[in-house]
Order: sequence, then C-alpha cells, then structure tokens
Amino acid sequence: MKHIDIKEVFTNPALINKTVTVCGWVRTSRDSKNVAFIELNDGTSLKHLQIVIDKASDIALDQALKLGTSLKVTGTVVEARQAAVEINATEIEVLGTCPPEYPLQKKRHTLEFLRTMPHLRGRTNTFNAVFRVRSVMAEAIHSFFQSKNYVYVNTPLITGSDCEGAGEMFQVTTIGYNTEYKNEEEYYSNDFFGKKAGLSVSGQLEGEVAAMAFGKIYTFGPSFRAENSNTPKHVAEFWHVEPEIAFAELPDVIEIAEEMIKTVVKTVLDKCPDEMKFFDTHFENGLIEKLQNLISNDFAVCDYTEAIELLKKADKEFVYPVEWGCDLQTEHERYISEEVFNKAVFVTNYPKEIKSFYMKQNPDGKTVAAVDLLVPGVGEIIGGSEREADYDKLVAAMNERNMNLDLYTDYLELRKFGSVPHGGFGLGFERLIMYVTGVSNIRDVILYPRTVGNVR
Ligand code: 4AD
Repeated sequence: MKHIDIKEVFTNPALINKTVTVCGWVRTSRDSKNVAFIELNDGTSLKHLQIVIDKASDIALDQALKLGTSLKVTGTVVEARQAAVEINATEIEVLGTCPPEYPLQKKRHTLEFLRTMPHLRGRTNTFNAVFRVRSVMAEAIHSFFQSKNYVYVNTPLITGSDCEGAGEMFQVTTIGYNTEYKNEEEYYSNDFFGKKAGLSVSGQLEGEVAAMAFGKIYTFGPSFRAENSNTPKHVAEFWHVEPEIAFAELPDVIEIAEEMIKTVVKTVLDKCPDEMKFFDTHFENGLIEKLQNLISNDFAVCDYTEAIELLKKADKEFVYPVEWGCDLQTEHERYISEEVFNKAVFVTNYPKEIKSFYMKQNPDGKTVAAVDLLVPGVGEIIGGSEREADYDKLVAAMNERNMNLDLYTDYLELRKFGSVPHGGFGLGFERLIMYVTGVSNIRDVILYPRTVGNVR
C-alpha cells in the first residue's frame, strides 16, 4: 500500500505543498459547518497529524470521523500554526470502520482500565510513547555491547538446571503427574526430556559457557520466574539482558553496568525528546532532569555491611526488620537509593547465605562478590557478581546448598579447563524502562504482562 509515515510528514520539510498519502487510525475528530478535522495517528509519531477536509468536497464523512476508524488519506501538506504541518485532504478511503462500542472513546483513561485491553492500549499516547522508548532502549543495548566486541548469544529457554537455585522455575512437561507413577523419578523419566525440565530463570550459566569461549558475551531474551509476588515490579516473564565477561573482577562488572545504563539513558534522551517530554509532564515531573543528572554523575557504591548500618541508623520504621544477614527488601533499597544517596547505588558484598551458589566467595568467609544496582523510584534493576572460578570452592558452595551436581557438569568443567576470573550481571529490561519513563507499574511497560492469575 503506497503511503508515507506520519513521522515523515512532520520531519521532512521538502514535503510542504506536495501531495502525499498517509494511513492511520482516527484519534479524534471535529465537525463544523464548512470544514471537518481528523487527528490521525499511524503509530510512527507521538504527535497526531491533522487532516483538514473541506465539506464542499465530495469526501464522504459518515464513517471517516468515527474514533478508531482506519483511513488512507491523500492530500497536500500545508504549513499550520506553531510550526506544525497538516494535510488538506483530497481523497479519503475508509480501510476499516469502527463502531461506537470501541472502548477508547475518552481522551484519558486510567492505566488500570487500559490493562483490561492489551490489544488496544497501544493506540493511546502513553503506550505509543512507552513502546517507542522500549524499542530505542533495546537497540541502544545491542549497539553498546556490539561496539565493545561482545558476542550476542541466545541461551536456551528450556533448561534442566535452576540457575538462581531459588526454586522459582515453571515446569515444562507434556504429561500431567499421575498417582500411578511410583515416584517423581518414574514420572520424569516418562516425560518429554526424560528428566525434569523448566523454563529458564536466567541465561547466565550458558552465558558463562559462551564467555569462556568468546570472551565477552551478552544475552537479551526472556526469563521466567514462578514467583508468587504480586507487586508493581514483578512479572512472570520478563526480558533479561545478561552480559558475561571473561578476565573480569567485580569492579570491572560494576564499571560496565554503569556505562551501559548511562549509554542507554543518553540514547533515549537524544532520540526520543517528544516521548520524554510527555513522560516528564504526565508521569514524573523532573524526569528529564533526573536522567540528565544520572548521566553526568558517578553512581554511588556502598558495601552491604555499610548499607545495613545506614538502615539501622535510619529515622524510619521499616516493615521488615534490619539485621546483618537479612535480604534487602524494596523499602530498604528505596531508602538507600532515594533518601541516603538520592541517586543510583551499587550495593556490594552481600552475605553468602542470601545469594546464589555461583558467586565468588570473599576472603572473609562470610560474604560474596555480589552487586545489585538500586535506583530511586524502582529499587533493584540489576543483580550480578564476580563468579566463583575455583572448582573446589564452587563444589563446596553447591554441596552446602544440597544441589545435585550431576545437573551442573558442564558448568563445573569450565572451572577445570582453563578457569579465569569472570563475572556479569542481569538487567531487568522492564525495570529499566520503568525508571526511564517514570511509569510505576511493570504491567504498563510490556505488551502482555504475565502475572499470577493473568495470562491473557
Ligand atoms: O538478581 P537476579 O535474580 O539475577 C540473575 O538472574 C543473575 N543470573 C543475573 C546475572 O548475573 N547474569 O535477576 C536480575 C534482574 C533483577 O535485578 C531484576 O531487574 C530482574 O532481573 N528481575 C525481574 N524483573 C521483572 N520481574 C521479575 N519477576 C524479575 N526477577 C528478576
């Protein structure tokens, strides 16, 4: 279908006084005595394109003015007020009519209402802006790593081993459990893979395999968590960016994470000025300034033990009590990043008991070389670590956790055959989008959110 993007009409001055054809959906319309106006949007631009129709022409308007109708419009591009352009229509073809029960009739709907119609909410300004920014951020992540010689690898989504060891895996099966099986082993041996399988919570273990061959790698794909947490920042299926770097220690991992976040934020500010202004006005006043500050200042680094001291000294009642050894809850993370530092903070060296088996054990015997990145408004957006590269220490950590070593033979062999210091991190892509857009619920930055009890 020969036509041009509405974005091009706005950005290409050579089109003024030329005849063009555009397509789109009617966002609003107005009918007056001599002229009618349609605000048309094809998704390529946050701004709608005004179509002006002279009612003396023979253009039929009975369907074309209805909200949600899809149109193909031909006309002349003319300059309009406030440096904008509009189109004087000469021809309008209705591609698809839209009846009055179309739910997006009002100008503004609540995000909760829009969540009930994931198939239509993309046609609102908010979701147009969210998904444009999401797309630009994804591209920025790829360019960042590609420009630094990282290899993009795709790790398996179906796995036989639980990376995080937290038992949050969705099971993958073709047969239901049946009491006729003598035990779990017999059941699994009859299943598709002949053993227990699940959806991967992280591509890290395979990412390490790749990094031990290609040096620097990153993954960018979905991870799955069967966590029963109904919060504004958890979904059961999220997009995970996981770089893994050979010949790297914890400070290197921290440096790369900071540089990546700053690069992505800078790219969005450069490439999506309209969208970012929209979020600043409608979602978080001062958002652009917050992001500019993020780019121009160093992130803070704070040892877990120091963070616990700060929390204990805090003039604030926490729901979850604070003691050395406890996991940091969102309220703690937000206090540290919002009230103590008021910026992005890397918290490092957590107690080994609350972190995964693969993290490098520190000489103190109590902590591991872990790092989480906490940001104001969201809390944790990155979790990572230097990895335990010593075979015996790793086996000991796995045994302490009663893990089945047979499931991790490939992983353990990496520590036998030319083991090197290495590390990496996982970024929750949606969490970064929340931070960058000021949208406070993760359900509103992903096309189809999967949460407990919701898999539309
Ligand atoms: O801290 P996590 O569990 O770390 C890992 O999975 C490591 N294997 C990463 C690595 O070192 N390669 O998860 C990493 C990040 C979290 O910081 C969070 O941003 C995001 O993944 N995340 C979720 N995002 C949305 N919904 C959930 N249920 C999430 N669980 C984790």
